[in-house]
Amino acid sequence: MIQIAVLGYGTVGSGVVEVINTNHESINKRVGQEVNIKYVLDLRDFPGDPVEKVLVHDYETIINDPEVDIVVEVMGGVEPAYTFVKKALLAGKNVCTSNKALVAKHGRELMDIAKGVCTSNKELVARHGLELLKIAEEKNINYMFEASCGGGIPIIRPLHSSLTADEIDEISGILNGTTNYILSKMQAENADFEEVLKEAQEKGYAERNPEADVEGYDACRKIAILSSLAFGNHVNYEEIYTEGITKITVEDMKYASALGMSIKLLATSKKENDKFYAMVSPVLVGTDSPLYSVNDVFNAIFVHGNVLGDAMFYGSGAGKLPTASAVVGDVVDCAKHLHENVMTSWNSEKLDLMDIKEVVHPFLVRVKGKKAEMADAVKAVFGEVKTISVPDVEGEFAIITGPLSEAEYEAKAAKLPEIISRIRFKA
Ligand code: HSE
Repeated sequence: MIQIAVLGYGTVGSGVVEVINTNHESINKRVGQEVNIKYVLDLRDFPGDPVEKVLVHDYETIINDPEVDIVVEVMGGVEPAYTFVKKALLAGKNVCTSNKALVAKHGRELMDIAKGVCTSNKELVARHGLELLKIAEEKNINYMFEASCGGGIPIIRPLHSSLTADEIDEISGILNGTTNYILSKMQAENADFEEVLKEAQEKGYAERNPEADVEGYDACRKIAILSSLAFGNHVNYEEIYTEGITKITVEDMKYASALGMSIKLLATSKKENDKFYAMVSPVLVGTDSPLYSVNDVFNAIFVHGNVLGDAMFYGSGAGKLPTASAVVGDVVDCAKHLHENVMTSWNSEKLDLMDIKEVVHPFLVRVKGKKAEMADAVKAVFGEVKTISVPDVEGEFAIITGPLSEAEYEAKAAKLPEIISRIRFKA
């Protein structure tokens, strides 16, 4: 029997318990033996919930139980998750997680511990001593995080094991279900941002603190993880330019619709002329992109490889059961490889990212005033550009620039005080 412990009985944790109970027989058949939830750790009590039978409040109970083979960390946040996961790995227990904040910040180090390649980690060696590191090395275990990006969509495992023939030069995705749900509803129903955010929270898509979703921080961590795996070197999420959707208005949506386009929060990393850039921002996407019709809570990850060409991974990107599906998929994989490290390493060498100011896009720029009266001023700054007006958005119009670097755009925009806002077109 494989004994597992689930850390956290929130949306995803309760989903993991539900998935394991619902598909108990088929999961056991795939593993080749029974998978049993021995403990669920949470600070809270859940009177009347059958989980009470296995509920514990003290992590030491789990870490000191030699029967526990797999720890499922679905607590979210960096601490105490980091301390708990590290202790579990050092105790020789496999770990499966949905926690992108933790994977983006400490994923490489935790994978190294699982693999037993951790002697370069001075802090860890100082705190736990070489004997503990030796234990991890002898155990040869796994730290799996399929659910950390794209909810239920398989993308980490394909990057690890299927797309290994390719040099990947682009990975771009709609990686946050909450914001995709909000943007889709705002555009389709002329709906108000706050009202739609509330709905997304009620449906269990949003993070505890919705700032992580709407400011793009969640997508930023996910693209850092995916880029690190795709490009082989470590991408520091703190270096990724990140802009959220809080400034997107119903008027922006009307311009997008008039252009036959949609606005998506896109997380992109690309290799261009041997340089890499990564950014998260709302962009206008046309019908020529497969990302155009990815709506509601769905996520999609577009990958371009030098021999593969294009591939897109699409599916349920957030929510209790889709996320739990990915976590339990990892549990099954871990259970089949209890003492064999099957995840490739995440190189510690840092990937240098291009200065965002060099990245080139066309822009949609909204300008206050009447088109005829502003024509000369606009031409003096941007040259000959296309303009667009939307009948029920009064007192303004918009221009479509040619491809400009961020630095060029900023320099031009500084000369035209009538600019209301700008949105990039997908490059
Ligand atoms: N808040 C996240 C989202 C959950 O909306 O995509 C899944 O990571």
